[in-house]
Amino acid sequence: MIELEDVSKVYSTGSPAIKNINLNIKKGEFVFIVGNSGSGKSTLIKLLLKELEPTSGKIVVNGKELAKLKRKKIPYYRRDIGVVFQDFRLLKDRNVYDNIAFAQRVVETPNKVIMRRVPAMLSLVGLSEKYRSFPKELSGGEQQRVALARAIVNNPAIMLADEPTGNLDPKNSWEIMKLLEEINKRGTTVLVVTHNREIVDAMNKRVITMHKGVIVSDETKGEYHEN
Ligand SMILES: Nc1ncnc2c1ncn2[C@@H]1O[C@H](COP(=O)(O)OP(=O)(O)OP(=O)(O)O)[C@@H](O)[C@H]1O
Ligand SMILES: [Mg+2]
Repeated sequence: MIELEDVSKVYSTGSPAIKNINLNIKKGEFVFIVGNSGSGKSTLIKLLLKELEPTSGKIVVNGKELAKLKRKKIPYYRRDIGVVFQDFRLLKDRNVYDNIAFAQRVVETPNKVIMRRVPAMLSLVGLSEKYRSFPKELSGGEQQRVALARAIVNNPAIMLADEPTGNLDPKNSWEIMKLLEEINKRGTTVLVVTHNREIVDAMNKRVITMHKGVIVSDETKGEYHEN
């Protein structure tokens, strides 16, 4: 589902952020990516989204070689990938319903389908009552649940989450991780970047540890490593 072959990324300003990474993630896996600040985790996520181009190496996601993907095809490529960030990134001037509906209008989903799917997503994340609320009227945990609902509404093959619990308290962090696990059980391949040791240690998933742009460990039922 995700394949990196000798991938490196050097930003114009400096030393390599990612150095010769080789990685293979299969369909249906749940993978944590950990590592200290500046180790290249977010760079990896951006490469997978084709927000950045690698300096060298080959990336294949969902059967598509990213370097060969035409600019016009990028929105369609991204339709199959759900994304969640630490800072939620909701549309401030739209309510919960429209935030989730928006992602589908962009890809021209018929309104009839949207009207069926949005309530289903809201119920999955436990926010059915809040569909009219605006982001500023929600707690951080609720906002992240809206972001998650929005990310999965198009039933993506892959879910990329870059520190999805970075701004949340322990209880909300667990709820978000449990939702990600639920999404994974429904067949989506999930990649989660996190600094949350407690959750990583408790969940018994594959853990990839990065350090200064390289993968220093990759364990099937791993734990959070300090480096
Ligand atoms: N746009 C950029 N231009 C230049 N250098 C960058 C850019 N973005 C990141 N870097 C550098 O690349 C390296 C990896 O950064 P990255 O954001 O991938 O780290 P990270 O593992 O996500 O860290 P954190 O845990 O703090 O989010 C760092 O040294 C960083 O300074
Ligand atoms: Mg980061």
